[in-house]
Formats: sequence, C-alpha cells, structure tokens
Amino acid sequence: MSLTPIGVPRHKITVASLKEKKLQHEPISCLTAYDYSSARLVDEADIDIVLVGDSLAMTMLGHENTLSLTVDEMLHHVKAARRGTSKALLIADMPYGSFHVSSEDAVRNATRFVKEGGAEMVKVEGGDKRADLIRRIIDAEIPVAGHIGLTPQSVNRMGGFKVQGKSLSDIEQLMRDATALDRAGVACIFLEGIPREVAEMVTNEVAAPTIGIGAGPGCDGQVLVFHDILNLTFGAPAKFVRRYGDAAAEITHAVQAYRADVTSRKYPADGESYHLSAETKRALELLLERKRAMRGRRQITAVE
Ligand code: KIV
Repeated sequence: MSLTPIGVPRHKITVASLKEKKLQHEPISCLTAYDYSSARLVDEADIDIVLVGDSLAMTMLGHENTLSLTVDEMLHHVKAARRGTSKALLIADMPYGSFHVSSEDAVRNATRFVKEGGAEMVKVEGGDKRADLIRRIIDAEIPVAGHIGLTPQSVNRMGGFKVQGKSLSDIEQLMRDATALDRAGVACIFLEGIPREVAEMVTNEVAAPTIGIGAGPGCDGQVLVFHDILNLTFGAPAKFVRRYGDAAAEITHAVQAYRADVTSRKYPADGESYHLSAETKRALELLLERKRAMRGRRQITAVE
C-alpha cells in the first residue's frame, strides 16, 4: 500500500527534508516501529520517520519502564526495522546507560547503531547537560535527535511518568535545554509530556524541527507509539493517545476463530491441503493393496 499517487516516486526522507518541512510549515509524521513487519507497514503508509524507540522495552518486551534495555537488545530491533524501512528516516533510540558513562562510550554506541543497525540518526534523552556529548556524536558524522520534557529514562528522578514544564522555573529550564540542543546542532528535538503552550514557545524559539508527543498541536511534527494507536498496550491510554485501530480485538477474534476451527476439525479444508497427482495416488493405492495382501497371506501361514 502506498499513499503516494501512482507514478510519483516518494522521496527518501533525510535530515534536510526535516529542515525543509519546518521551513515550509509542513507537519512531520513519526511513528515508532520495532521490527520488520511494523516498520514496513509504517514506511509504506508514507510516515516520515520510523523511530525505534526504547519504549520497546515496555511494548515489546513487557518491562515496567525503559531502564533495563541493553544496547544489544536495541540493536536487534534496529536491524529488523532497517530491513522494513526504505523511504522513511530511521532513528535509533540510545538506551539508558549507553551514553551516561562517558562521551567515548556514547560515540562508540552511537556508531554501532549506524554501522551495525543501519540507523540514520540516534536519539539522546536530556537537555543542556547532554549538549557536549551530543556534539561529540555529531562530530562522528551521526545526526542526533534531542529529547526533552518527560524523558522516560529519568523515571526514578521524576518519581513517575509525570508531565513536565508546569512551573515557571521548569519552563525556563526547558527553554535552556532546547536552546542548548539547538546550538549543539541536533537535527530535531522530541518534546514529550509538556503543556502545549510551552511546546509552542520552544518550537518558535529553535531552528531544529520539534516533534511532540503529549505536547499539543504547536510542534513541527507529531510522534505516537505504534502499540498505542493500535490498542496493543493492555492498559488505559495516556490522555494524548488517539486510537486509530483495535488490533487487540482483531487479533483476539482471529486467534479464537482459528482455535475453534482446529478443535472442530474445520481447519484445514481440502483446498488448504497439498495433493498427490492422480498417477502417484493410484500407484500408492496399489502399493498399499499389495502390502495388505502380503500381510494377509503371512497371517494365514502363521495360523496353519
Ligand atoms: O521510546 C519512544 O518511543 C520515544 C518516543 C515516545 C518519543 O522516545
């Protein structure tokens, strides 16, 4: 499926395309995807950015938060998403701990996402205190996406997944974070869980495109989590989530119908089975008849 009109090739989305979209006031669409099939569906639906977010620790692996995800686990998913992505820009999230020890370590890990995973950009959570290491990653020719506001890797410091930037001092800090990231040269900034007024202020202040999640309509683009929009999260959605489908209901319905067909022997039908040619079938029947006849003769001899 492609939304691009037939005969019009859709262009590859690059860092330059994101800048251009901000200049042209053209909204940027971004959705998470964590494997080949979801990335392929997202890419073929003409979404601009496929984000292999560390939210996969929760949505795909069932963890309570994102903190335990390792670089190797993330790489496994980035490689799969790479195989399903052709036109969208592919961003790999840097997991907790992969950029906190030293900037050398951060560059080494970011390089792995590009060389081994095929990512075109990495995302780093945090504001002005991450600006220097972000510069180091950019110096290694790797575009970086910033991520400020409700940063899930700070869950223990924040005391839960709480909306940020509600007090004047928090708003000032957010503005400092955004401008520090902008000056460091990030290719875009994810704004998560902040009041819409603050997101709008940040968006107007920075040159980098902003991509919001729970940050209102004033951002340059929007991102949501694949599992959220499809009702695959097994819980009450956050306020900002809009559900565009009910994959959980679809899957449950299909799986229950399959089970019912298996247990009632309605599956598989003759049309879903492979068949021998008429010639081989006849030869097989003759062979079985001969075997039965020989077995019968042996039984008579044994009785005599
Ligand atoms: O991990 C993720 O999915 C994210 C987005 C919510 C921005 O970081």
